[in-house]
Amino acid sequence: MKQDFLKHQAQTSPHPLAMEISHAKGSYIYDKNNKAYLDFVAGVSACTLGHGHPKVVNAIKKQLDSYLHVMVYGEYIQEPAVELTKLLALHLPYPLEKTYLTNSGTEAIEGALKLAKRATGRSEIISANKAYHGNTMGSMSVMGFEERKQAFRPLLPNIKFITFNKELDLELITTKTACVILETIQGGAGFIEPKNNYLEKVRAQCDKVGALLILDEIQPGVGRTGKLFGFENYNCVPDILVSGKGLGGGMPIGAFTSSSKLMDLLQNTPKLGHITTFGGHPVIAASALATLQEVTESNLIANTLVKEELIRKHLVHPLIKEIRGKGLMLALIMPSSNIANQLILKAQDHGLILFWLLFEPKAVRITPPLTISNQEIISGCSIIINILDHI
Ligand SMILES: Cc1ncc(COP(=O)(O)O)c(C=O)c1O
Repeated sequence: MKQDFLKHQAQTSPHPLAMEISHAKGSYIYDKNNKAYLDFVAGVSACTLGHGHPKVVNAIKKQLDSYLHVMVYGEYIQEPAVELTKLLALHLPYPLEKTYLTNSGTEAIEGALKLAKRATGRSEIISANKAYHGNTMGSMSVMGFEERKQAFRPLLPNIKFITFNKELDLELITTKTACVILETIQGGAGFIEPKNNYLEKVRAQCDKVGALLILDEIQPGVGRTGKLFGFENYNCVPDILVSGKGLGGGMPIGAFTSSSKLMDLLQNTPKLGHITTFGGHPVIAASALATLQEVTESNLIANTLVKEELIRKHLVHPLIKEIRGKGLMLALIMPSSNIANQLILKAQDHGLILFWLLFEPKAVRITPPLTISNQEIISGCSIIINILDHI
């Protein structure tokens, strides 16, 4: 299987971890030798309710028995997509009430950028250095890391970059700006939180010049930071909210949400302003609906902050320089990338899954399922401390 994996399935790095998966349940993934790995990564913040959560699996099975794909996006009334977008609206502040469902996060970013251009008639986009918003051409154009973009130029024109948390840069947002796109908490950059009411100040500047604010919550969203969406922590409501990853409960999804007034612009001039075949797929939407119901009806969201405290308490070591992030979106900052690499690779040998961040090589990701138990957190942390003691 490994030979075929390397030979036939396209790879994106020369040394993939190449663990051969047998099955996954709760907070554990099992390899073909039935070795259990405690999952501190959740498929990179995607498996909100862990693996094989019964409510998610049952919702998918029920939908499988009813119908799969029946029509391109937005033409027929399909209950799972309607219920999902309605529940999102119920939990979002007005006027965020209308959601477009896509197949992935990057595709939702593309839709959000198009909507901002269509709504303002402007073309300039402002993004942040070290931002990550996805890997298709538009999303990559707003990625703030030149080294990963150079080979794919030319990308979208008219994009300017500001530094996250740097207030002086906000002057760059002017009446020429269609939109500012930011991650609510910068992910790939190293789990950087907004400081000193930064997002409120960005919001104010956007309002002043008539630019739209897009917040990318593909990673912090759906309960990970002690609120359903990260922006609720920072007193700043975006014009367009983008979500994905954890919304699907382990199935592929993306979504962008705005006011009806804004979203309805995609209906004309031009007609079919954003279209997709599979976006809002009934099985995916059923999985996302079950996930969102469970997250909003349980105490999982509040507990992320309790679990954060537990992790911070148990991960004290001279080699851990800092723990960045909020709730169950945490990153350990190690003294060097070499030590971060050693920790991640040795953890796999010891039955614990850790992972990297995109642009911060000294960081080690801790983004477990929200359903992880306190006991599982303690045992994962003790594996980390034990490894660090031996480095
Ligand atoms: C903040 C952020 N935006 C966008 C994306 C892209 O989402 P997807 O991989 O589903 O296209 C990601 C994925 O890692 C992300 O973390």
